[in-house]
Amino acid sequence: MLCVVEKQRQRRKALLQRFKDGVDMLSLWYVSALLIFLSPEASGTNPGVKVRLTQHGLEYGRQIGIITLQEKLKTLKIPDLSGSEKVSPIGKVSYSLTGIRILDLGLPKSGVGLVPGTGVSLFIGDAYINLHGNWRVKYLRIIKDSGSFDLSVKKLSISVTIGVKGDDTGRPTVSSANCAASVGDVSIKFHGGASWLYNLFKSYVDKALRKALQNQICSLVAQAIDEMNPHLKTLNVLAPVDKYAEIEYSMVESPLISNSSIDLSLKGEFYNIGHHQEPPFSPTPFSLPDQDTNMLYIALSAFTLNSAGFVYNNAGVLSLYITDDMIPSGFPIRLNTRTFGTFIPQIAKQYPGLMMKLLVKAVKEPDITFQPNNVTVRVSSTVTAYAIQPNATLSLVFILSVNASVSAQIYVSGLKVAGVLSLNGMDMALMTSYVGPFQVKSLDSVFNMILKVVVIPKVNSYLKQGYPLPSIGKMNLLNTQLQILKDHVLIGTDVQFGP
Ligand SMILES: *[C@@H]1O[C@H](CO)[C@@H](O)[C@H](O)[C@H]1NC(C)=O
Ligand SMILES: *[C@@H]1O[C@H](CO)[C@@H](O)[C@H](O)[C@H]1NC(C)=O
Ligand SMILES: *[C@@H]1O[C@H](CO)[C@@H](O)[C@H](O)[C@H]1NC(C)=O
Ligand SMILES: *[C@@H]1O[C@H](CO)[C@@H](O)[C@H](O)[C@H]1NC(C)=O
Repeated sequence: MLCVVEKQRQRRKALLQRFKDGVDMLSLWYVSALLIFLSPEASGTNPGVKVRLTQHGLEYGRQIGIITLQEKLKTLKIPDLSGSEKVSPIGKVSYSLTGIRILDLGLPKSGVGLVPGTGVSLFIGDAYINLHGNWRVKYLRIIKDSGSFDLSVKKLSISVTIGVKGDDTGRPTVSSANCAASVGDVSIKFHGGASWLYNLFKSYVDKALRKALQNQICSLVAQAIDEMNPHLKTLNVLAPVDKYAEIEYSMVESPLISNSSIDLSLKGEFYNIGHHQEPPFSPTPFSLPDQDTNMLYIALSAFTLNSAGFVYNNAGVLSLYITDDMIPSGFPIRLNTRTFGTFIPQIAKQYPGLMMKLLVKAVKEPDITFQPNNVTVRVSSTVTAYAIQPNATLSLVFILSVNASVSAQIYVSGLKVAGVLSLNGMDMALMTSYVGPFQVKSLDSVFNMILKVVVIPKVNSYLKQGYPLPSIGKMNLLNTQLQILKDHVLIGTDVQFGP
């Protein structure tokens, strides 16, 4: 994605340069049209994948966030305070408060909410800070006194709005949009010294402390929010799949923040590695159902899976040579001219006693459709049958058109989505015969068996490896459930972040 963005930038730059070099009105129009076309914001791409963070997800985020924020606030620095005050009847008293440090800080009460169109609101109430420090005074020129003190700040409240946007790599980012902190009660307890001195400090300490806290809290909160961004940057916007494919999960538009969820629209498209060619079909718009029992919902559209088929077909890997050793040994049907000769006698006559070999090859990308509780894959392929001559030369026997309808079961395993196929049925037609005409129907049971025991298990062992879901950091999925809906599969899940 980075590379794509960079390329787009360079192309825009080059176009602008041509524009500056002096071109006519037609070129000007052409340049503007291209600029609009090239800017990702204006492309209006429908997402292939949608991700929804619900109130439960936000609540989990709050629990993690509060721990981080608490650690952050413990780095508050209260500066040393010193000064002098005229106190009758003794005159000038100089004092200093030093070594003020936080003993304890708690954020027992907090809540999160959504700010439609903007982001997340976080409120912290009843926070407290206990501090300890040393005091020292000097008066009447020679008298010195010192001791320690305990400070406690109570009813501290912080409210902040966290803006949620997208960055230029297509990942979400957060920032502190609005922050206010207020300090409720401050109480101080001195140890040692004369009690008249305490009154001298009290109001001074109170004021200085409030100022120090008010100045620092919001900037520490902003820092803590900003520190979430490196985690968000781990979103796998270009997730490697295998040696052929990668999936693009960058956002195609800014996050949509409603009063009940944060929705991300991701591209969700498979590409050949390093070669991003668009398929001849595009995502159908779909909307997420109103479900909120899980923290996170990930909807993968049929488009996403169909783009996978397009990529693998382009990579030329949707083909398979089948030889006799791939058929389990106990099976009565063997890949030789004797077996095929029992259905089509000319084969045994023309190629007596030879082994055979089949090439199954998709003629175009498979077509995957999602209907409620039903995933169906239709594959159009050709099957070319060869007889293997003793000198290893392959002689063409026939070519069939074989279209199969397959049911898919989809499941989540770790951070991957995987599948298992089973055959619904197939249609065959003879395309070319090199052994004279024959009834293709006679081969039905042979090919049914070959699909069931060789081809589909082979595909399943591949599908079992799974495809990466969009994820952030060390994310684990819990309580995951999966529903097949119209045009998409919906994965509802809770998440847990590892240490
Ligand atoms: C949330 O927004 C929807 C429509 O945007 C509205 O119907 C609903 O009343 C809102 N709910 C709350 C709690 O504000
Ligand atoms: C799914 O739908 C297809 C037709 O679209 C049908 O052939 C198949 O039997 C269905 N599968 C299940 C499991 O209902
Ligand atoms: C292999 O054997 C076949 C059949 O006997 C023959 O037609 C063909 O020319 C041979 N090819 C080579 C390379 O010897
Ligand atoms: C298989 O589907 C293709 C189109 O994808 C069609 O041209 C062909 O006739 C079909 N073959 C059979 C046997 O139905």
